[in-house]
Amino acid sequence: MEFDLQEYKSAWNLDQDFHHCNHGSFGAVPIVVQEAQKKIQDRVQSNPVKFYARQAMSEVQDARSKVAAFLGQKPEQIVLVRNTTEAASTTMRGFPFKAGDEAIVLDHEYGAVIYAVQRAVEAAGGTLVVVPVPRLATDDEVVELVKKSLTPRTRLFVVDHVTSATARTFPVDALSALCREKGVAIAVDASHTPGNFDLDLDKLDADFWFGNLHKWASAPLGCGVYRIAPRWQEIMRPLIVSWQDHDAYPLPWDMLGTVDLSPWLAAPVAIEFYEKIGWHRVRAANTARMRYGRGLVMAELGVGDDELREEELPLGVIRLHKMDGGRDGCIALQRKFAEIHKIEVPITTACDQYFMRVSGQLYNTPADYETLAMAVRKEFN
Ligand SMILES: Cc1ncc(COP(=O)(O)O)c(C=O)c1O
Repeated sequence: MEFDLQEYKSAWNLDQDFHHCNHGSFGAVPIVVQEAQKKIQDRVQSNPVKFYARQAMSEVQDARSKVAAFLGQKPEQIVLVRNTTEAASTTMRGFPFKAGDEAIVLDHEYGAVIYAVQRAVEAAGGTLVVVPVPRLATDDEVVELVKKSLTPRTRLFVVDHVTSATARTFPVDALSALCREKGVAIAVDASHTPGNFDLDLDKLDADFWFGNLHKWASAPLGCGVYRIAPRWQEIMRPLIVSWQDHDAYPLPWDMLGTVDLSPWLAAPVAIEFYEKIGWHRVRAANTARMRYGRGLVMAELGVGDDELREEELPLGVIRLHKMDGGRDGCIALQRKFAEIHKIEVPITTACDQYFMRVSGQLYNTPADYETLAMAVRKEFN
């Protein structure tokens, strides 16, 4: 058996002692992108003053333009950030919550983002509302559940486009339209979105949208993107105040003091890497890998298709019926797979259930998933 684009395995220099079935958590950077980043860092170190004092701003603006084009945006519509955690924290700290307000998240939401929402809304004297959504709920059911949970006190709804623990999409277009109709702001956590979808962010018109380029677009670690709707651009400011603070959006975000800008500057090389192959082919190849691996694990565990929500995604989950132990249990089992079986695969929990999440990326071969299935047999039977 051979996957499409199998020859790209050598485009990464991953540790060959391991099977890497977890692209979803931290991505993995192709060699050509690592080299581009290293070249930028070497150039910076050859004359740091020349770079930061005279070149950095225009190079960031150039990188931002290229990232914007990739997302179907104009350069002045987006800003670069380090990651979605930073964008989520910024959004929550800057959001004008007042006493009595409610902020809503679904119970699939990424833990650190929930903490950011909770800290901000509670500091203002408001309340975090966590709405349970069955893992296999249809898009219409999700919209209905959200509609029912909105109250006259709801100010902000935060939702994942692709969830981390349950690897499903939520219907962000319909949810954004619902929020607009009800006068509630919406923040879309699009951590897994760049690279996996053809986007129309103007049509989506989320108040806040943040994603990572270091996941499925394989940019160097520390490359996120944040789109703030025009109606919020004067209110939502960077948490870090720097020299461009008196300029209009997006300039205050371009350089927040002296930091390593190489992840942003090398991001266009990562985008080009996939563009040369063709995003649609890459997505299909990644989804096929994930499905092959997920199918093998489902067969080992006797999990049926009725437990699947089938989507065109490079990551998917298999329910672990025999698992318990909360988040600590997940960490322990994930470590066991890594240390004993030499397989990097995340074990997640959400909605009072446990899952193994399998990723597909061009570096994966059938052997990665066949080894994973053997390990699952040993651990669970
Ligand atoms: C849905 C979701 N939100 C937020 C994050 C946080 O991403 P980062 O650590 O790059 O900020 C992740 C990371 O996996 C995620 O899956």
